[in-house]
Amino acid sequence: MKNYKDKNLSVRVRTEDLLSRMTIEEKIGQLNQLSAKLSDADEMRKNAVQGLVSSRVMASTAFAGNEEQEITGFDEINLLQELALNQSRLGIPLMDGWDIVHGQRTIFPLPLAQAAGWAPELVQRAAEIAALETAEWGVRWTFAPMLDIARDPRWGRIVEGFGEDPYLCAQMAAASVKGFQGESLSDKRRIAACAKHYIGYGMSCGGRDYSACDCSEHELRNTYLPPFKAAVEAGAATVMASFNEIGGEPVTGSKHLLTDILKGELGFQGFVVSDWYAIHQLINQGVAENRKEAAYIAFDAGVDMDMLDLCYSEHLPALIEEGRISKERLDDAVRRILEVKFRLGLFDDPYVDPNASQRIRDEHMEFAKVFAEKCMVLLKNENNVLPLPKSGRKIAVIGPLAEAKRALMGSWTQNKSDEGIQTIVEGVQAAAPEAEIITASSLYDEMLMAAQRAEMVVLVLGESDRRNGEHACIADIELPVGQLELLRAVRRLGKPVVSVICSGRPLVLEEVDHLSDAVLYAWHSGHQTGPAAAEILFGNVNPSGKLPVTFPRTTGQIPIYYNHKPNARQIDEYYYPESTDYFDTTGKPMYPFGYGLSYTTFAYSGLTIDKEKITADEVQTVRVTVTNTGNMEGDEIVQCYLRDCSSALTRPLKELKGFQRIHLAPGASQEVVFTLDREKLGYYGKGGKFCVEPGKFMVYTGGNCLTEMCTQFEIVK
Ligand code: NOJ
Repeated sequence: MKNYKDKNLSVRVRTEDLLSRMTIEEKIGQLNQLSAKLSDADEMRKNAVQGLVSSRVMASTAFAGNEEQEITGFDEINLLQELALNQSRLGIPLMDGWDIVHGQRTIFPLPLAQAAGWAPELVQRAAEIAALETAEWGVRWTFAPMLDIARDPRWGRIVEGFGEDPYLCAQMAAASVKGFQGESLSDKRRIAACAKHYIGYGMSCGGRDYSACDCSEHELRNTYLPPFKAAVEAGAATVMASFNEIGGEPVTGSKHLLTDILKGELGFQGFVVSDWYAIHQLINQGVAENRKEAAYIAFDAGVDMDMLDLCYSEHLPALIEEGRISKERLDDAVRRILEVKFRLGLFDDPYVDPNASQRIRDEHMEFAKVFAEKCMVLLKNENNVLPLPKSGRKIAVIGPLAEAKRALMGSWTQNKSDEGIQTIVEGVQAAAPEAEIITASSLYDEMLMAAQRAEMVVLVLGESDRRNGEHACIADIELPVGQLELLRAVRRLGKPVVSVICSGRPLVLEEVDHLSDAVLYAWHSGHQTGPAAAEILFGNVNPSGKLPVTFPRTTGQIPIYYNHKPNARQIDEYYYPESTDYFDTTGKPMYPFGYGLSYTTFAYSGLTIDKEKITADEVQTVRVTVTNTGNMEGDEIVQCYLRDCSSALTRPLKELKGFQRIHLAPGASQEVVFTLDREKLGYYGKGGKFCVEPGKFMVYTGGNCLTEMCTQFEIVK
């Protein structure tokens, strides 16, 4: 006789056996996710015994990324699992979920900054470390990666994703899913990933969070879907439905998006969780009259687990009784959830080692430093003012963020301790111990006095960790109040000025660029922001990050992104056109997508393609040689873009289709090879069908999206 408790049986068999033993009430209990709020602890224990809760969100408020959370600790996890396993009728363990967005104890760069490293293997390693630390805390599910293509830096959540480009984002999506989940979820050091927010949430209007925006299915499939497709193909165990609507249908209530496309077309086998109160919010969005209708719409659409609303536990019993929801759909949702729990090994051992050290391992910190170094982007370096001399010059390291700690960690930092965070000043002292450093970071007059006494100035500017993230939007992406005035005053002293900007999102930097000799974008790069920035400033490390998102010149240029469609009237054929309809500024951004400088220089030569004509099923090979023409070894991120010149539906002027981070010694060259297969050559065309159409294609290679180095080929029938 089969028994789901038998570890030797397959997940499928165990799930079916368990399902066959469950009452409707127990099944609905598996759809219920509650909050790990401290004040709900007693109630939670009762729910665990009665089998009425499936999971907890490790958060107590809706804006968990920026607010202090009052949640139960580490110790409660074993107790609840013990109650669920041994005192509930069927012994089904809980599967708690937590927003581990860029590290649990060891904090890595924010995802947008991670994307600036253009190194999926580093994203994967960071996710792997985050998984281990999260699992050691007893939680086996993260609400990450966030895969929303975002093109509006006013939107606070742009920091949580991997930028404006579908291909780059898809590469990072796959890497993070692999990092979190590893080869097998049964490995106790791994956690289940949650690809969120499916789909189109990044399309925020006016930069406002939770706003109602819309796009065509063409845009949805070609721009917003690829990262989710990549995450599903990488095996993401769960997906979170997004708050926004598409075509008048909130995603939480869209059968077309959740069941037809995600579970059907993409073949997603895991379960879909709603976002915080999103089912109830169907009432606010005006498509459900009451909570019962909201439960019906979301469950029928394909949302399997209800995050906090209690809509399912309150109303599914009646909806099933009335026959509006079928028992098959109920079984489908429960099966999906149970399978993930079985795969995680939670039925066999859901406990956390209470003696597991919660300290940060040195090797994790070391990796965090390397990762942060790769993500920082050198935006300007006039007259080679950088690297700074390590001795012999008096250097002022000043500015409101020069000695900041929390601000460097960024939004969604679950580690609330300041231990291990090194400031930029501390980083500078460690990177250049011989240097004579003067610091000041709180009073503006003292900062100016320090600058006056020095020969060179490093001015550390930027945002607080709370000025970005969820529900943290700004109307104007200028530096926070007062910082530009400080820069202007420092500039008037006539000394070389290096601006270091710590921020989660792109800011407008036209004046900063103009007033500074060098600009380093250090992001909110977590624990190692200070040391990593300092290593770059003093030339111990050659900067190599490139922008994963366009930096506008003024807020009014938003939305501005490189992969836009051609204009009907081509006043200027180019990306980011010089002559636009603006009378008051150019259409050119401040810094384009893919841009970033190095202390060395790279030359591109010998771009070739293998065949001038290919069929739609053939693969094109692109080769280009890159040479380090400067004096320092360094990394270059070699990029390959494609333009589909004639197609039944319009295509972007350029689309990223490949990139490679290479390391070159001075004088060294390397041939970089890109392959363009069906998936890269095609797009979702008429009727939403994926197709590769005959016609002319241009291929570009270079160090950023503005590259003009190109060749062409044709796809023939
Ligand atoms: C709401 C956010 O939109 C989502 O990303 C997050 O995972 C949940 N809150 C849980 O904190």
